[in-house]
Amino acid sequence: MSHSDQPTPLQSRSSGPLSGRVRVPGDKSISHRALILGALAVGETRISGLLEGEDVLNTAKAMRALGAQVERTGEGAWTVHGVGVGGFKAPDAPLDFGNSGTGCRLAMGAVAGSPIVATFDGDASLRKRPMRRILDPLELMGSKVTSSGDSGRLPMTLQGARDPLPIVYRTPVASAQIKSAVLLAGLSAPGVTTVIETEASRDHTELMLSHFGAHVVTTNEGTHGRKISLTGQPELHGANVVVPADPSSAAFPIVAALIAPGSDVVLTDVMTNPLRTGLFTTLREMGASIEESHQRNDTGEPMAQFRIRASQLRGVEVPPERAPSMIDEYLVLAVAAAFAEGTTTMRGLQELRVKESDRLQATADMLRVNGVQVEISGDDMIVVGKGHVPGGGLVATHMDHRIAMSALVMGTAADAPVKVDDTTFIATSFPDFIPMMRALGADLT
Ligand code: S3P
Repeated sequence: MSHSDQPTPLQSRSSGPLSGRVRVPGDKSISHRALILGALAVGETRISGLLEGEDVLNTAKAMRALGAQVERTGEGAWTVHGVGVGGFKAPDAPLDFGNSGTGCRLAMGAVAGSPIVATFDGDASLRKRPMRRILDPLELMGSKVTSSGDSGRLPMTLQGARDPLPIVYRTPVASAQIKSAVLLAGLSAPGVTTVIETEASRDHTELMLSHFGAHVVTTNEGTHGRKISLTGQPELHGANVVVPADPSSAAFPIVAALIAPGSDVVLTDVMTNPLRTGLFTTLREMGASIEESHQRNDTGEPMAQFRIRASQLRGVEVPPERAPSMIDEYLVLAVAAAFAEGTTTMRGLQELRVKESDRLQATADMLRVNGVQVEISGDDMIVVGKGHVPGGGLVATHMDHRIAMSALVMGTAADAPVKVDDTTFIATSFPDFIPMMRALGADLT
């Protein structure tokens, strides 16, 4: 992937109400998992509604390089013919995951359970992100890192385990990526692999493993946690996967509709898995008009239609235990908080420092440069809402798609236009973001 040789700046200015009915693209987490589990299954997996963003396309390429047959048969329609658990072949070249921590870390788990050597690499943003948190449990299971960049960063070569050991692993941070890597490696281990999390993270891997025929048992652990046990060496069979619309992508038009006066926007098929909907809970507490209808659950994950009407928001306290269910949404929540009346305090955001950028700092900078009062105190972010945002700033995106989209959303209702220095990374998760926002009435030039 060649990004940022040519940065593409963009300006967003307020344009009046947004209106229309849209379906945002398929969920990124589910799209990665469908390709990876399809590659580990025997037989055909058919996926519809796959997110065709760069992150997911890199996972598709990696699964091909590991021996699976992966084909695009139509818009969002893909088939995968897998190699079976433990059946990956050594790739001929390094696997390049571009900007994607999820694709890379889940693939590391899958490779750790196969007796092959593979090199993992990514772009400048991914090369800065911590990988030790994934390698610690994978090494306990018998895989080895044979070379890596500085302080255990990418590029990295991993030797998968010939005879992986099942382990019981307590994740040190609430991370679905760590949990998923351990479970994917555990597929090749004899016996039961168990992951214990003090705070439950998104459970798409567990749900999809069951859908592909694995035996997975989940129980509650403490007040907010879970214990997930997977019986190793199952015969995974190919399955049909329908990918619902991504709530993390829906967050952008939702917040834009809330802050642009007079807006009325409908979003269809939005995934409503409770481990992903912390933003909607928070926005409702802030006074947002979000009407949910057409609930259905016929494809393994719940989904619903959302109608959003512009609302005067008020500041709230967001508790730290809500963080795993909205970890990717704090950036755009901070934008909503800036338009609210009163102070919003978001607690327990340490994980934001190790995402595609240091999102705690980048979000504070995005707001400050547009005249919003914001403070970082330890791991908390405090935004002082004044009911309007002066705007007029140039936002640095730091190779981070969600910073770019949050800043453009802010511009749809700010007093003066908001500029972003580079929109190219939006293609990693939401390739149609700009045309979709324009179709709703946003003024992006
Ligand atoms: C994801 C998990 C989250 C999230 C990422 C997608 C996943 O990361 O930030 O965008 O699909 O498992 P962590 O698990 O590291 O919190």
